[in-house]
Amino acid sequence: MAYSKPYIVVHYILYLINAVSWRSVQSPFNYKLAQTIANDKLEKEFKPIEKIRKSLLKNRNEIDVIDFGHDGTKSKKKISEISSNSLKSKKYARLLYRLVKLINPTHILELGTSFGMSTAYMSIANPKSKLVTIEGSETIAKIAQENFTSLHLENIHLVTGSFENTLSSTLNYMPQLDFVFIDGHHQKDATIKYFEMCLTKSHTKTLFIFDDINWSEEMQEAWSILKQHPQSTLTIDIFMMGLVFVNPGLSKQNIELRY
Ligand SMILES: C[S@@+](CC[C@H](N)C(=O)[O-])C[C@H]1O[C@@H](n2cnc3c(N)ncnc32)[C@H](O)[C@@H]1O
Repeated sequence: MAYSKPYIVVHYILYLINAVSWRSVQSPFNYKLAQTIANDKLEKEFKPIEKIRKSLLKNRNEIDVIDFGHDGTKSKKKISEISSNSLKSKKYARLLYRLVKLINPTHILELGTSFGMSTAYMSIANPKSKLVTIEGSETIAKIAQENFTSLHLENIHLVTGSFENTLSSTLNYMPQLDFVFIDGHHQKDATIKYFEMCLTKSHTKTLFIFDDINWSEEMQEAWSILKQHPQSTLTIDIFMMGLVFVNPGLSKQNIELRY
């Protein structure tokens, strides 16, 4: 994802100036969280997932896709092109893995599966969890499902359909949400709406992660609203992603953390 627009560059410079190291974060909970975010590690179990990413990046076959994130148009796109533009990089996929390990969620919801790279990292971080992931584009979802099958990931339930049409029914059958990763439909109103819908199944320990909080001016506005939302308490800004806790036991503050 290209972050070249002037207002994004300005935000990035401000982030570089203001972001603190995990070592300077106060309070035991915040410190442990910041340490988990910062302490990146390679694990053997990432290898099979990365093998799939490599083959997706080389795959020049074209598929018909509906551009759900933007204008809903249909077009043919190379699998390699979708892979290089949409998938979370290894660094952020590993971060999701560490956060799932830290939170130890039973019920995980992801909005925006694409070919399932972030899903796979979250799945292996806690194979006992029940992970529901939603993807609008049928052709993309089919490839994600093939990837889950070849990785023998049995805790993933893939829902195919637009978030608008499937989120409400998906939430109805999920008893609660412990960990939510919102990585699709990067528009302000949609982002706030999905947050509020998910809040109905959240509890004090739920962690929400929003991707691409600086991807556009709209997403920067969405992030400001999320930080000030009456139910948000601790928020962590790592520029590419924003973490939101809704635990009233945590003090309401935003930490810009170097990552
Ligand atoms: C950035 S990609 C997800 C990447 C994936 N989480 C990863 O890192 O491996 C976003 C995906 O969300 C899907 N999407 C966007 N808006 C959607 C909507 N309103 N309903 C359903 N799917 C949507 C797109 O088709 C796209 O595949």
